[in-house]
Parts: sequence; C-alpha cells; structure tokens
Amino acid sequence: MEPVLLVHGGAGDIRDSRVPDKIKGVKLAAKAGYKILKNGGTALDAVEAAVRIMEDDESMNAGRGSVLNLDGEVEMDASIMEGSTLSEIGGKDVENPGEVGTVGAVAIDSKGHLAAATSTGGINGKMVGRSSDTSLIGSGTYADDEIGAVSITGHGDSIIKFYLAHAILKDIEKGSEAQEATRSILEKMTEQLKNTVGAITISKTGEVGIGFTSKRMGWAYQKADTIFFGIEHDEVRSEKVVDE
Ligand code: GLY
Repeated sequence: MEPVLLVHGGAGDIRDSRVPDKIKGVKLAAKAGYKILKNGGTALDAVEAAVRIMEDDESMNAGRGSVLNLDGEVEMDASIMEGSTLSEIGGKDVENPGEVGTVGAVAIDSKGHLAAATSTGGINGKMVGRSSDTSLIGSGTYADDEIGAVSITGHGDSIIKFYLAHAILKDIEKGSEAQEATRSILEKMTEQLKNTVGAITISKTGEVGIGFTSKRMGWAYQKADTIFFGIEHDEVRSEKVVDE
C-alpha cells in the first residue's frame, strides 16, 4: 500500500497576514508525518507526530497557539483513533494561557491501517469547561480500516449535531468517493445549520478528500516525493520534496 499522510491547520476566516505561516505549518507537519510512514511507521504514530508539530506551532489554534476561554485560560480538546481496532486515546487537557484553527491529521500506512487525530484550543472566549467536537469520536475524529479516516475543523456545536466525521465515512461506505463525500456532507451541514466547517479524509484505498465551507483552510499531504498543499478554494499547489 502506498502510504499517505494528510493534515489540516483549521478552517476559518483566516486573515491574509496569517496565510504564509499556516501554509508553512501544514507543510512541515505533512512532511514529518509522511517520513514516519515511509520508514515503515504506523498510521497512528504518523498522525500523532504531525499533530504534535502543529500543536507546537503558535500560528495554529491548538497546543501553544490555543485561544483563551472566558477566564483567560487555555483548555484544549483532542482525540486520536486507530482504524484497526476502533480504539481511541485522548480527551481533555487544561494548561496555562497561550496566544492564538483546530489542527488534524489522517493517514494510511503501508499495511493499509488507518488513523486520525484532531487537536484544538476551541472557540475564542468559550465557556469554561466547554468540550468540543474535537474530543468526540464520531464528531471530530474517526478512523475505520474498513472505510477510511476523517478529521474535522469548524463550528463544534454544529459538527456534533451532524456527527460529522462518521457521516462522511458512512457516505463513503455507501459508495461515494472521498472527495465527493467530504464536499457534499460539509455543504449539507453548512446549509442546514448556517455555520462553517472543514474536513480531511482518506479512504481505505488511499483516495484523499479535502473540503471546507469557510473562507480558507490550510491543508497538505505528501505522496511519494511530492507535497501537495493549499489554503484557498480550488487551490492545489505542489512541490518536489528534497530529503534533508
Ligand atoms: N471545532 C473546535 C471547536 O468548536 O471547539
């Protein structure tokens, strides 16, 4: 199986001034995660490594860059799931204040195993103790070796109502391609609930799906020696990766 690692750096109304840092961050995370897969590592290890890199990147709303709650503190949500056993690891964490979306990764490894991980600081000025879709398997994160893997970003309360990650995988299970399932389910949620959202998906055959109904969402994935990335609608840029 040809391994693939796909990441997102959060969907939203990303300002022009933030675009270069977001692109740099998702490319770095995608390359690091792919390197693990290329060296025979598991999808689970690869998504964890990619998300950790974005949690350390202050331009992302996760880890060090997390937004603050009403008390001016950082409360973060995360989840990680492996598709071979449908097990989840993750949950809720509370730390000290940080600065300034959601980050996530999905991967398929050379053995055909899938994994997904998502991490967030949540919504700026959120209620203390609020949990988001990001910590909920089925809403913000899902991986099943029999279907695919999904990581979601966007308005958490709407994502939970749509059980969004699971809804995308169910559409793929019924026969939709990853890209079509991702796009159509996100559009349905936005039309019905009037809030924006983004998602990255990998099917069990390694097809990728990338979609967002917000203004922008940074994403990147590496396949063989090429990295593909973008942040605007209908934008797909690519570069050859030179091993350092
Ligand atoms: N999707 C992240 C949040 O709403 O907190």
